[in-house]
Amino acid sequence: MTVELSRVPGNWMEKFKNFVEVEPYYNDRMWELVGEHIKPDQVEIPVVVECGSFRGRWSFWCLSKYAELIGQHFCIDLWDNYKGVTPQFQDEVYRTWFNRMQPWLWDKLHPLRGDSAFWHSIFPYQIDVMYLDAGHSYQFYADNLKPWWDKVRPGGLMIIHDLDEKVRKAAMKAWGKGNWVEEHLGPPRHDALWKVKPVSEE
Ligand SMILES: C[S@@+](CC[C@H](N)C(=O)[O-])C[C@H]1O[C@@H](n2cnc3c(N)ncnc32)[C@H](O)[C@@H]1O
Repeated sequence: MTVELSRVPGNWMEKFKNFVEVEPYYNDRMWELVGEHIKPDQVEIPVVVECGSFRGRWSFWCLSKYAELIGQHFCIDLWDNYKGVTPQFQDEVYRTWFNRMQPWLWDKLHPLRGDSAFWHSIFPYQIDVMYLDAGHSYQFYADNLKPWWDKVRPGGLMIIHDLDEKVRKAAMKAWGKGNWVEEHLGPPRHDALWKVKPVSEE
């Protein structure tokens, strides 16, 4: 029996090109920001978390660009009945995530299926880059923003996708007025909000 030792063939990108949502969606500025916070001179084993992964588009691109630098990468998602979709749709989403993520799966990438608050309650690491793109209700952000922020390392980065008044209100509650950056990091009509944790803040 031949054992395939390398799980990442040189042409893996070719293999995945027909998956839905594989086209670039976030812009260069997104990846510049992420890259700035996982540099080897800042942190030995960078930890990246995507909360709200769906088909894994953000993490797919993040790992495509930075797998060499990232130490551990976690994707949190309910993967269950999002916005009342059919079981078939949900199944396709979950299978797409797994197929797409094969090059990095188990090695440095871990799917965490379930509620953000649950995973937060047992998540053991300090986070270097956190990308929050889940719930999209005021209550979700109010319940999740500050607790996850507390796990971001001083000097680490949090990005919240889909900026709107609900996000601003929750950010205001967590950080105080205007204490963040609003910037276009993705497609039209999808701005983001981000903040780097001051080194003085524990
Ligand atoms: C907009 S999609 C994420 C898109 C993804 N980041 C991308 O780059 O394509 C939002 C995801 O958040 C997940 N979600 C919603 N509420 C959640 C919760 N409380 N905990 C974990 N995931 C949640 C949904 O299941 C859904 O897959």
